[in-house]
Amino acid sequence: MRTENEVLRTLRERRSVRAYLAKEIPPQLEDALMQAGRCAPNAWDRQSFVLCKIGRKAREKLVALTARHLGGVQEDHNFFGAPLVVLFLDRRENFERRADAGCALENMMIAAHSMGLGSVWVDQFATLEDAPDLAALLGELGFAPEMVICGAVAFGWPDPAEEIPPRPLRAQIVALE
Ligand SMILES: Cc1cc2nc3c(=O)[nH]c(=O)nc-3n(C[C@H](O)[C@H](O)[C@H](O)COP(=O)(O)O)c2cc1C
Repeated sequence: MRTENEVLRTLRERRSVRAYLAKEIPPQLEDALMQAGRCAPNAWDRQSFVLCKIGRKAREKLVALTARHLGGVQEDHNFFGAPLVVLFLDRRENFERRADAGCALENMMIAAHSMGLGSVWVDQFATLEDAPDLAALLGELGFAPEMVICGAVAFGWPDPAEEIPPRPLRAQIVALE
């Protein structure tokens, strides 16, 4: 019985990265990341979600909108300057959308770590789902009106100068008879 393998090590070792090198991600790695998100489990296997890579222009608009709502730009709202930012969007009618987002984006964060890339989930859109200006911007960016952002993750090469403090695990594990 094997209780240790590369996947388990990757799961244990992954940490959120909040400082990135100014270095692009090669297209093959980027594609592997997107495919890792795409093959995630999702409720009823509807696969109605979209994984959207946001380029500079769309990112600037989204960051400006966030700043208007949340009172200025914090470093995480700007995705820590990471070279790749992926949004998970799904239909508002899918009440499992945030669970589905968690599965797909976690798949991608684990895949990223396995390839030497860093990642961090940035949740600035979580409170903006009903914001009319975000809906209008998503429409302007080409999304159907029923699509909402359920999660966003930044990816890039970790800056080795960032010190990530150890993280004690506090969540409980319980067993009932
Ligand atoms: C749903 C969710 C939302 C998060 N939002 C943010 C965020 O807005 N900004 C940020 O810097 N980190 C964010 N994080 C990262 C958490 O802070 C991080 O996962 C947690 O502190 C545990 O640390 P680790 O990822 O390094 O193990 C988020 C993580 C999740 C899963």
